[in-house]
Amino acid sequence: MCGIVGYIGNRVASEVILKGLQRLEYRGYDSAGIAVINDDIKIVKVKGKVNMLVSLADDHNVSGHMGIGHTRWATHGEPNDVNAHPHTGATGKFALVHNGIIENYDVLRQDLEQKGHMFTGETDTEVLAHLIEEIHEMSDHDFFHSVQQALLQVEGTYGIAVIHKDNPDRIIVARKGSPLLIGVGENEHFIASDASPIIEYTKKVVYLEDGEMAVITSDGYEVSTLKDVLLTKEVHELAMSLEQIEKGGFPHFMLKEIFEQSDTIADCMRGRLMVHENRIQLGGLDGVVEKLANARRVIIAACGTSWHAGLVGEYLFEYLAHMPVEVEYASEFRYRQQLIDERDVMIVISQSGETADTLAALREAKKRGAMVLGICNVVGSTIARETDAGVYTHAGPEIGVASTKAFTAQVTILTMMAMLMGRETNVISDDYMRKLVKELRSVPAKIEEILKDTSDIEAIARLFTYAPNFLYLGRSYNFPVALEGALKLKEISYIHAEGYPAAEMKHGPIALIDEHMPVVVIAATDHTNDKMISNIEEVRARKGRLIAISSDGQSGVARHAEFNITIPEVHDCMTPLLTAVPLQLLSYYIAVNRKCDVDQPRNLAKSVTVE
Ligand code: M6R
Repeated sequence: MCGIVGYIGNRVASEVILKGLQRLEYRGYDSAGIAVINDDIKIVKVKGKVNMLVSLADDHNVSGHMGIGHTRWATHGEPNDVNAHPHTGATGKFALVHNGIIENYDVLRQDLEQKGHMFTGETDTEVLAHLIEEIHEMSDHDFFHSVQQALLQVEGTYGIAVIHKDNPDRIIVARKGSPLLIGVGENEHFIASDASPIIEYTKKVVYLEDGEMAVITSDGYEVSTLKDVLLTKEVHELAMSLEQIEKGGFPHFMLKEIFEQSDTIADCMRGRLMVHENRIQLGGLDGVVEKLANARRVIIAACGTSWHAGLVGEYLFEYLAHMPVEVEYASEFRYRQQLIDERDVMIVISQSGETADTLAALREAKKRGAMVLGICNVVGSTIARETDAGVYTHAGPEIGVASTKAFTAQVTILTMMAMLMGRETNVISDDYMRKLVKELRSVPAKIEEILKDTSDIEAIARLFTYAPNFLYLGRSYNFPVALEGALKLKEISYIHAEGYPAAEMKHGPIALIDEHMPVVVIAATDHTNDKMISNIEEVRARKGRLIAISSDGQSGVARHAEFNITIPEVHDCMTPLLTAVPLQLLSYYIAVNRKCDVDQPRNLAKSVTVE
């Protein structure tokens, strides 16, 4: 969702903040703003991208050595200049940026209006700014305690940073449900929603937990609970590098991240796929392997692309370990009749590790006694910290809003987990394990092979750039890939697309097929080959435009399809790791042809920290 950056030290604050907002822009990009203190509070904010804010800030004098900034993804109030953050109260002495939702903002607003406060916009955040001001003016609370008292009245979620004209030596921050970290430098400190804006200045970070507040000065920071209990926080060392969060010569982050996949999958397997020992070693699961293998059932909870990875996981666990698995949309899980208990194990999957719905499912499952394991990409994220155990995907920062390398890394982890479980449940013999290990090890090279020449995919993309609809069909392991292919196309090119299990086509979607309908058939699994050829024929008979993804050995498919994208052969259960790649590229090239903003598609945000 929204991104927050703050700085206090000797540098020019606006430079650090604006650059940081550009790095954070993938979290939200409908408006942006900055507030700095230099005698007075100076605020510049504007509807649109951070670049617009940068040019506007150039025209205004936003000098000063401390300040806060924000890039917004609208929840309450349309994206416009007024609703952009930072927000102030009536006196303009406080400025506040906020990520999250103040759920009781309406009641608070009415109460403040009765006390004479006038509001300029419709945001919940503006209400909080007025509330802090009201408390400060009407009581003897200092800056810190005014913020604290206001937060005690607030229901909902927040990551906030507040500055006060009369206390230009400090920034107050607080967190409940929206991530916030403190970057620790030499006589300077940073705040940010995630590490990307601060990585070039410091690698030392302190993560705030829910219910914590902090006073940040240039010389230090002091963290306490909302109830004034002082805390000693661990300082973590960031592993990410600046290079990882830059485009590295690619026109878009998404393309860079697609091309990184042979490396990210190799990284994901490093030290875990023990080829010579013919086994899987997942250090993050030490001590919980037996409990997982003996679970009454495994519930996988996630959202979006991570949910699609979870669906692949279901097939993998069932096939390789004979374990019962259910895959839930995290957003639905918590509103279901809760039948989960200590006999079950939940696996939550999240690239960002901050998705609010996934976090809520995790907490619900833990409350009911289930062990919860995580598959996360962002090290130190809330989900990673709250799970009982888990495995990092180590895919590096994913900046493109459309998830690509995170998906294949998640599926790689799930494949290794299922193999580990298959050994534990005695479903996988020594010989079969050897075969699986060898096949999985071959995946990075096979992805490189796919990426060597993308001209066929670019040509198909050119032909179908202006198609208004797309259908994606897959079976078995590749049914989730059909869903993922359709999601990729929808989110970055705004073309309506649907994914279906191939056999379901004749139960409805077949009515849509005519000579204008591109149908992408993911036919790369051997054990469903004949059935997929039948589906291809059904599409052809209705003049659908057929684009098949098939493997080297499936000449049958290639012969029947109008267009065919060939991938190297791999064990059926690992085909999603390969078939996902051409679909990512197809959606990427179509979106570029349509001149869409690939890395920052409209209405979307990288990490969805509101429910
Ligand atoms: O960070 P998470 O993996 O928890 O995010 C879940 C979804 O919001 C995410 O996968 C979303 O669907 C992406 N935009 C897909 O490309």
